[in-house]
Amino acid sequence: MKFTFYGHACFAVEINGKNILFDPFITHNELAKDIKVEDIRADYILLTHGHQDHVADAAQIAKQSDATIVSNFEIVSWFQQQGIEKGHPMNHGGSWQFDFGKVKYVNAVHSSVLPDGTYGGNPGGFIVYSDDKTFYNAGDTALTLDMQLIPRFAKLDFAVLPIGDNFTMGVEDAVIAADFIECNKIVGMHYDTFGYIKIDHDAAREAFNKAGKELVLVNIGETIDL
Ligand code: NI
Ligand code: MN
Repeated sequence: MKFTFYGHACFAVEINGKNILFDPFITHNELAKDIKVEDIRADYILLTHGHQDHVADAAQIAKQSDATIVSNFEIVSWFQQQGIEKGHPMNHGGSWQFDFGKVKYVNAVHSSVLPDGTYGGNPGGFIVYSDDKTFYNAGDTALTLDMQLIPRFAKLDFAVLPIGDNFTMGVEDAVIAADFIECNKIVGMHYDTFGYIKIDHDAAREAFNKAGKELVLVNIGETIDL
């Protein structure tokens, strides 16, 4: 599965010829200044929660590529009020079969207000099942016992976990999360973007290695095969 990292919590995967983009935050991300938002095309934009650092470029990308926004009911409704007609509302525990694969919206422990102060529902994460790979994007979250349910829902090929600490899990908790979800290949996100979440990359990789797991840190703008 082709995986492209756009910085912070934003990445895209290609499944059955469809481009699935998560949590676009590029324009205001100093580290992603070489990424051109106007060049990004998506068939679906999946948003884990309403915070600015996850939704800032969603409207523009949705408009320029006629994408469908998939998120919780409150967030999809907020985008519809701004003229983004194509939306698919979900809520926690629910699954839906899309044309690229099945998506399940699962719990995250965090907060979720939209950039203008509108209530953004409760934050979540996604499990994406496909013929190719099945993965979990935890979204912004603390380590939570709910993650122990994930192996009952899916056998994961990889997972995208926040590792930056302060606003989300840090490395130490993310290693435990990787155990809970029974996944040995972790892609790190939500680190380095702001002063509060700068991390030591080598120490982070080492912590996962010690637990018999692999931490993949993808350069911004880079596409890898997962
Ligand atoms: Ni957040
Ligand atoms: Mn965030």
